[in-house]
Amino acid sequence: MLHAIDPTTTSAWKTLKQLAATSGQLSIRTLCQDAARFSDYSLTFESLLFDYSKNKINDAVREQLLALAEECKLAEAIQAMFSGETINLTEGRAVLHTALRNQSDRPILVEGKDVMPDIRQVLGQMKGFAEAIEQQRHLGYTGKPIDTLVNIGIGGSDLGPVMVTEALKPYQLPHITTHFVSNVDGTHLAETLKRVNPETTLFFIASKTFTTQETMTNAHSARDWFLTHAQDEKAVAKHFVALSTNAAAVEAFGIAPENMFGFWDWVGGRYSLWSAIGLPIACTVGFANFEALLQGAYSMDVHFQEAPFGQNIPVLMALIGIWNCNFLGATSEAILPYDQYLHRFAAYFQQGNMESNGKYVTRTGERVSYSTGPIIWGEPGTNGQHAFYQLIHQGTHLIPCDFIAPAQSHNPIGDHHVKLLSNFFAQTEALMNGKDLAAVEAEMRAAGADEETIRNIAPHRVFDGERPTNSILVKKITPYTLGQLVAMYEHKIFVQGVLWNILSFDQWGVELGKVLAKRILPELAGDEDVDTHDASTNGLINAYKKMRA
Ligand code: F6P
Repeated sequence: MLHAIDPTTTSAWKTLKQLAATSGQLSIRTLCQDAARFSDYSLTFESLLFDYSKNKINDAVREQLLALAEECKLAEAIQAMFSGETINLTEGRAVLHTALRNQSDRPILVEGKDVMPDIRQVLGQMKGFAEAIEQQRHLGYTGKPIDTLVNIGIGGSDLGPVMVTEALKPYQLPHITTHFVSNVDGTHLAETLKRVNPETTLFFIASKTFTTQETMTNAHSARDWFLTHAQDEKAVAKHFVALSTNAAAVEAFGIAPENMFGFWDWVGGRYSLWSAIGLPIACTVGFANFEALLQGAYSMDVHFQEAPFGQNIPVLMALIGIWNCNFLGATSEAILPYDQYLHRFAAYFQQGNMESNGKYVTRTGERVSYSTGPIIWGEPGTNGQHAFYQLIHQGTHLIPCDFIAPAQSHNPIGDHHVKLLSNFFAQTEALMNGKDLAAVEAEMRAAGADEETIRNIAPHRVFDGERPTNSILVKKITPYTLGQLVAMYEHKIFVQGVLWNILSFDQWGVELGKVLAKRILPELAGDEDVDTHDASTNGLINAYKKMRA
């Protein structure tokens, strides 16, 4: 069951507040002088290493963080999610993306019905379809095999498939090219259509609701474009499939039921890559690799459910995040993959984190009195190093970072990978150690600088250090380990939502803008001024109308 416990009323929270003034001021540098620090403050799960030794955490803090999880009844919440309880309270839904990757024989009940047979049926349908693409048996309207995929979707119906197909590029089928169109800005679709051949292109219209303005606008325009070439409505069936929960809207759009791949309302949009929304992934890398992705995620699900909290990677990740945000004052977290293939990983978890935990209302409707989800951002190293790491090292904000790297590269050319990894290790070391004034002065003196230059320049070259980081090392980015990584972060987000006493599986905050855009759209039709809004919005709309003339 999901309780509604104000975390600030727990004794662990109160103790952690006190510890923030003592243990929270500990030096990471000093903590890491202890020879046992790494073994005491890192965990391995299969080929994944999670190292949290470079945090301002000692045994007392860890003990209280684990006590916080107990007092907030995390175990019951985990059980509630995995067993299909209605934990998405505001939408009256279960939250069962984990069922989509369940590899056991265990039935999973939603309102008394086992959902596993339906999941397996759709997986079978996806397998058949993906194999037809892989084996070049799916032919377009002129009899040529499909070689180009275009996914039209946005948010969770885009970001997951984009992130995974990019991450798994080494596994991409040689004859397949995949594009993603999400933005309602016509440029996104137009630039994609310039590069594809209607005879050999397959469109996935990916939308849980099949009502999302951006997706439906792009879908209609793509179909119009296709028909100007094919000149035959019947050809649409070979080139358009729908990934959705809304069969009626799919049919109204003109996609036949046999070309629809369904999923269910208990799959959240930002957790949907494991569902039929993952079909473009399966068609890009082959179904066997999609299955391996599910298996990797499942292995993390089992770890998350079974490992004691002190040995549980997602739980510890979440608790460290809470320590940094709620007790040490961090408001943002960076995700920094040292792997070019993971270049959309941070963007993916921006939605995962921020749409889930960007909430200021508790489960029972009151305003929280503490910080919830931090701002999530990031880019692959080493690009980030030459862009924004300056602020992480010497800025005024505390920005805890997750560094992620594979030990083995898919592209072992020359010494690229060791250079990349030397940066991965160097950055967390630099963020911890910093460089004090005495060291800077000594270095400048040794380089022959005069005393006045040293006085003027040295302060700018000092690094305080003591910036917390986690390091996540995997043997190699494969479909299986990627599945583990994604599930690990999903569960971290879940744990934080539970402890913050918020509802992580709705997203009402995105609704207002959508409603206002719908109201404004017809007002943009004519040339006459509008006066239905406030002065600022009227002014903007009317200025636009003059500019476009
Ligand atoms: O941004 C809001 C949102 O509802 C996301 O949660 C979702 O992933 C996205 O829109 C797309 O929704 P749909 O799949 O229904 O088109």
